[in-house]
Amino acid sequence: MNKRTLLAAVSTAALFASYVPAHAAGEVEVLHWWTSGGEAAALNVLKDDLETKGVTWQDMPIAGGGGEQAMTVLRARVTSGNPPVAVQMLGFDILDWAAEGALANLNEVAARENWDEVVPAALQSFSKYEDTWIAAPVNVHSTNWVWANKKIFDELGLSEPTTWDELVAALDKIKDAGYIPLAHGGQAWQEATIFDGIVMGAGGPDFYQRALIDLDPEALGSETMKIAFDRMATLRSYVDDNFSGRDWNLASSMVIEGQAGMQMMGDWAKGEFLNAGKQPGEDFLCFRIPGSQGTVTFNADQFAMFSVSEDRREAQIEMASSIMSPAFQTAFNVVKGSVPARMDVPDTAFDACGKKGMADLAAASESGTLFGSLAHGHAAAASVKNAFYDVITAHFNGEFSSEEAVEELVNAVAGALLLEYVRCPGALGAGTTCRRKNRRQRWQQLPKSDRGPAYRSRAFRSAYRVPCHASFWHRVSS
Ligand code: GAL
Repeated sequence: MNKRTLLAAVSTAALFASYVPAHAAGEVEVLHWWTSGGEAAALNVLKDDLETKGVTWQDMPIAGGGGEQAMTVLRARVTSGNPPVAVQMLGFDILDWAAEGALANLNEVAARENWDEVVPAALQSFSKYEDTWIAAPVNVHSTNWVWANKKIFDELGLSEPTTWDELVAALDKIKDAGYIPLAHGGQAWQEATIFDGIVMGAGGPDFYQRALIDLDPEALGSETMKIAFDRMATLRSYVDDNFSGRDWNLASSMVIEGQAGMQMMGDWAKGEFLNAGKQPGEDFLCFRIPGSQGTVTFNADQFAMFSVSEDRREAQIEMASSIMSPAFQTAFNVVKGSVPARMDVPDTAFDACGKKGMADLAAASESGTLFGSLAHGHAAAASVKNAFYDVITAHFNGEFSSEEAVEELVNAVAGALLLEYVRCPGALGAGTTCRRKNRRQRWQQLPKSDRGPAYRSRAFRSAYRVPCHASFWHRVSS
């Protein structure tokens, strides 16, 4: 345990020492993907807190930033009839599990603790399903950040870039000085994370809404989208040769250690800087992806609570309640790099980047410039998100020109939507619309006539193939 982790553990223990549990509340098995140094330090805050309340933690870590692997493992666990008590989850995935009837009802604890009043509406739309609380939000992250090495910036006389052209000029200067300009890990979710902020910077908030949330084909196929892809290609030229497959926290280390000038990543990267003993303003800088200032593309980690047997319920409710306590929200988020999921937590304990994150979130929420992150499952369902991933990453790796990427994107999104919402199988009523229950199942019988032009896209062809049996579908309209 390094000094910072130790300090965090000690201060957490002190923070919660006043709570004396009446009796042991049991055990929680928790599935999550917080396996990097900074993430593990934050997770320890939660484990330690629960231990003071007599709740034992059974760890189920599934490595892989962004949580794709974790969601695959989860599916297998639920299918085998043995879900974990609590699962770290993002946005639309939570709603999908709720629609499958797999999640527990937290309304009693939520009403007792007044969650409706303190959790921002943007988060509640993923913590509640049909008026039932099903998840406890632990934080708010945002993806449109840049993390920079201050020593390199000082040495080269650079100031924080505020426009795309200034960013490119800074990257050039860093390259000329012999550093790696942009630390990046070549994984689809990391490229998509950058794409969030680049789309926002290229097109502004209205465009982000139309393209990434409304999935308007015109916006997806527009010249502005081509500019976004051109910018992604420009960024690709500032990445080192060994970027492929690199984990995001190793890319953060390159900036921390002064090999690279910047990383574009969500504010979980700050957790890595802090875990390495670095201070904002002294060792590193945090600023918004140029062009996206004034907007926030957010994702919130929530613990979705699964329907479990009665004997595991007490510990589950204790965990949900602990997560929502204001003291915990502070203790956890100062370590994690995120900001609280409650609106009534003061910013006093937060560092300069945390204070900025909280102020940006409040301002964006006020001015209507707060949007769900596409990359982290808060703009569209997983099938659509994955369609974006395929195209963004293929383009980043030089498989498509920007023109081709725009065309592929229109087709891939249309294909994903077609698979998401289709004419119901006869057993559910002719002429109604259905949405798949289990998007990981394979599709087999959708008639070609229902597939439309999207059928031609590569992403569509490799997409999901799900049997047409009625049990695979929910009816969503009549
Ligand atoms: C995000 C998650 C963050 C962080 C990141 C990298 O999806 O919201 O908490 O863990 O993945 O693993």
